[in-house]
Amino acid sequence: MKTDWWKNAVLYQIYPRSFQDSNGDGIGDLKGITSRLPYLAKLGIDAIWLSPVYKSPMDDNGYDISDYEDIAPEFGTLADMEELIAEGHKHGIKMVMDLVLNHTSDEHPWFQEALKGPDNPYHDYYVWADEPNELTSAFSGSAWEYVPHLNKYYLHLFSVKQPDLNWKNPKVKEEIYDMINFWLDKGVGGFRLDVIDLIGKEPDQLITADGPELHNLIKELNQATFGSHDVVTVGETWSANTDNAKLYSNPDGSEFSMVFQFEHILLDQKGPDKWDLAPLKPADLHAVMSKWQTELVGKGWNSLFWDNHDLPRAISRFGDDSSAYREISGKMLAIYLHFLSGTPYIYQGEEIGMVNYPIADISEADDIESRNMYAERIAAGYSKEDLLRSINTKGRDNARRPVQWSSEPGAGFTTGTPWLAIHENHSWLNVENALADEHSLFYTYQELIRHRKTYPCLAQGQYERLEAGNPQVLAYRKFDENDEFIVIVNFGKGDQAYQLDYDISDYEFFMQNYADQSTKLRPYEALVFKK
Ligand code: GLC
Ligand code: CA
Repeated sequence: MKTDWWKNAVLYQIYPRSFQDSNGDGIGDLKGITSRLPYLAKLGIDAIWLSPVYKSPMDDNGYDISDYEDIAPEFGTLADMEELIAEGHKHGIKMVMDLVLNHTSDEHPWFQEALKGPDNPYHDYYVWADEPNELTSAFSGSAWEYVPHLNKYYLHLFSVKQPDLNWKNPKVKEEIYDMINFWLDKGVGGFRLDVIDLIGKEPDQLITADGPELHNLIKELNQATFGSHDVVTVGETWSANTDNAKLYSNPDGSEFSMVFQFEHILLDQKGPDKWDLAPLKPADLHAVMSKWQTELVGKGWNSLFWDNHDLPRAISRFGDDSSAYREISGKMLAIYLHFLSGTPYIYQGEEIGMVNYPIADISEADDIESRNMYAERIAAGYSKEDLLRSINTKGRDNARRPVQWSSEPGAGFTTGTPWLAIHENHSWLNVENALADEHSLFYTYQELIRHRKTYPCLAQGQYERLEAGNPQVLAYRKFDENDEFIVIVNFGKGDQAYQLDYDISDYEFFMQNYADQSTKLRPYEALVFKK
């Protein structure tokens, strides 16, 4: 039976490489995750979205898969994965697997066979052309790679080691369906579908996202696999808007449970490129969030998030990571997001307020996206300082630094040498300290998760945007037949005056992020009232 359990759920994203190492090799692993389940149960989450743990040469840290039905040895074994699923169930936590269906690794046996030539049965598993066109890779440069012995080019919308699968080939679809059913049989709680808006690509027409056959492909996928299961499916869709989101997350269940869309994430850049920084206007953010709150009602379902493994740390981006306001601004962001309709995602370390990790030289970067962009732009004449500023603001390594569990060397993440350097602030910013302080950000998240379980209004109520007469002050009313809440937050660094266009005299104080009350709205202050 389908219960739509995910509507009232809170998901927690784990980037396995950086969560918890169990054997001292400096790389997080499945046994490490299993050992931290009690911590996640204490936080109160319902499911874990696990970034890829499959066998992979790790060119893009696991988003380049060489065997979909096995686990990368550095993460453990299939038996460890089965144990994690089973132990998760004991804690009421489901495992949501990351499905990378747009491309494989070039080391996948399918691609190795495909390279043998046009007569090989696997050749048409991938996308080939005699001549490249102007399509570019998300990781810089042309999206086409020449294979001399075939005198042909293959498509890679990401790295050269991530050849794109050919979704026009029925055999590719069958293989993918079988693989998804393999994981469903193992009892997983669902799937996050990586860059799924790209699988309907028409490279000849320069169409990548949102191709003409995309929704048919998703419907077929749904029917052949997860459609009949009580699991969550979330489509990562950078190109989604509030119109096609209603297709992706159609309440009739024909596609996915929800979209994971990025409109609010694209506001602090100039033009199409995330590296071209622009200041965020809080009022623009509120407008985008409000649009998604109102337009999907009864017609779709959205994810709620500030950060993930591809984005900078939330507090560094939207709050203040360098002052006494680190936790205050973190609580403000959590409160603003968790009273909204949709399914919230907490990215590992967000719940203790981890912050960006600035680098002083490109040699400190691991991420292929940052390294390729740097090389391309240095060659084009950009200054080193500008590029490092962009990487320190937006680079993906920021959120991929190991989770800070304690003040020990290795931060309780590893007893060995971590694969990526740990932030020196782990001496004080760590889980151990967060748990010991009843006023810490961790307990704000725990409280918010509890409220979402107590008041269905938070996940599913109606939303009304309120005006506060100040562009730094974001306010809304959230209500259903039983409860009514007013959320008011100061997105700015200074004190703010505001005048709400709504009478809240019969509301009572419900929740806040400062220890005491004040007549003005202080930096990053968040207030919640309840009728
Ligand atoms: C998604 C993933 C990202 C990865 C890319 C290619 O955007 O979140 O980490 O690099 O797809 O698979
Ligand atoms: Ca390990």
